[in-house]
Amino acid sequence: MRGDKETVKERLDIGEIISGYVKLEKAGANLKARCPFHNEKTASFFVSPTRQSFYCFGCGAKGDIFSFVEQIEGLDFLASLKMLAEKAGVELEYETRGDKGEKEKILEILEAAAKFFEKQLWEEEPALRYIKSRGINQETVKKWRIGYVPDEWRLLYSRLIESNYDKNIILKAGLAKISTEKISEPYDVFRNRIIFPLFDVNGRVIAFSGRALSKDTEPKYLNSPDTAVFTKGEVLYGLDKAKDAIRKRNYAVLVEGQIDLVLSHQTGVPNTVASSGTAFTQTHLERLKRLSSRIILAFDGDKAGVTAAEKAAILGISLGFEVKIAKLPEGSDPAEVIANPPSGGLEEWKNILRESKPAIEFFLSELENKEKDLRKLGKLIVDKLLPMMALLKSSVEQSFFVSLVAKHTGIKEQVLWDDLKTVKIKTSPNPLLEQGEGGRSPDEMKNHRELIEERLKEIKLWGKEMPLESEEAELQAHLDTIILSDELQNFLAELARAESSKNTKSIAELAKKIKETHRKIAALEEKKKLM
Ligand code: CTP
Ligand code: MN
Repeated sequence: MRGDKETVKERLDIGEIISGYVKLEKAGANLKARCPFHNEKTASFFVSPTRQSFYCFGCGAKGDIFSFVEQIEGLDFLASLKMLAEKAGVELEYETRGDKGEKEKILEILEAAAKFFEKQLWEEEPALRYIKSRGINQETVKKWRIGYVPDEWRLLYSRLIESNYDKNIILKAGLAKISTEKISEPYDVFRNRIIFPLFDVNGRVIAFSGRALSKDTEPKYLNSPDTAVFTKGEVLYGLDKAKDAIRKRNYAVLVEGQIDLVLSHQTGVPNTVASSGTAFTQTHLERLKRLSSRIILAFDGDKAGVTAAEKAAILGISLGFEVKIAKLPEGSDPAEVIANPPSGGLEEWKNILRESKPAIEFFLSELENKEKDLRKLGKLIVDKLLPMMALLKSSVEQSFFVSLVAKHTGIKEQVLWDDLKTVKIKTSPNPLLEQGEGGRSPDEMKNHRELIEERLKEIKLWGKEMPLESEEAELQAHLDTIILSDELQNFLAELARAESSKNTKSIAELAKKIKETHRKIAALEEKKKLM
């Protein structure tokens, strides 16, 4: 693998690779651009062809071609190595030694099957009618390569055999199976179903999910079994087409179903992804984290949906996400909201997303609606809400929710704090505030200041809602302190110059300014103590 990495690195030029994603300009011996990893107006993202590395002075992103591709494509190292090896025309040693042949063959068959399913859809009136009845338009069918397979035992299998595909590989691809009771010809796994291909991040077909056409067919959704190229619980449906939008909008919308997903994209929410066949897992969320650390959960508006949201929220918060939850109308899911104008439709879907609430606040109001007895509500909160609050990474957020809960329930803040401590889950304060400014070099200071400015911008974009308001105030105070300290440094330098040139008028003015700045800083420090 080491050898592979070096070979690929030698053959590729970092400038060329990066210019495939952002517009680079010359800057002396280097190249520069507006950073693709954070929002900025001026270019602080630099690429060094001699060192074959990149560095962003704004957000601190740095690395080589592999880490660049990992971050921009949301891949892990191995996947980025593969992608770049393909570009470089390098055959990876570790793969040719292993089972690459078989994986490639499986992928090839899956692609052939996808084409077959796609074609069938246009030939089957009932399938087309079904698609239409769900509000899915033709463009969406093509974009997501939605297909159909008629109600026959071996339609796909015999077609693949006719086209000389290997029987063993068809089985290994999870497309056909053999009855264990009697020895017989393999038969198709997917029959009489609408077919949704599942893609990897590069858009290659790695599995299928088939939805029954009729109400009485069980299961409603049938997924490919795990294969050499597919592990259920790892695939995020739609990620290949959503990743750029997630990065640009800096949040992802998470839905549960395939139809929810394609309709959400169809209505112009391209940063939507879905889990497929499982609940959202840590693997899913870690993958998303590389693109954005904000998620809106938009699950079904029923008990199961709320329970699933609770689990996903706990997972998300503990991984450091800002988690919001959208409230779907009782008994309906995103697909129904979107496909049912005039009460639903595009605007309704967007409204629901816009009105999503931070997870803790969402569950607080769920609990309040459920339990009117204040005493019992208190207990529910301690059991359900405090563990979630204890996971919050920012103590500022934590204290925000403590006072919110106190306000709503009449429980004393101190009691909530004591209980929170007994929940005993380690929390670390907001890293931006934690760092402080002592002992930093001027460059680091600038970096730190920009990070805070970025964060403030993000908070404004993400909305003025709680819990960000209190974080905003704290960060703003912090930023003001840095700015004032900068000013103070400048005044002191000027004062030194004025003293050496014995300019008494300037000396007097500067002394006044310095005193004033000192006073402002002290006032800010006092204010921060009260936050
Ligand atoms: N699912 C699954 N296996 C099942 C049922 C559901 O894998 N037996 C997955 C599918 O990915 C499905 C998602 O869970 O898209 C949501 O399931 P559910 O809410 O039950 O689907 P519905 O919204 O009722 O399905 P549809 O929208 O197709 O009517
Ligand atoms: Mn659903």
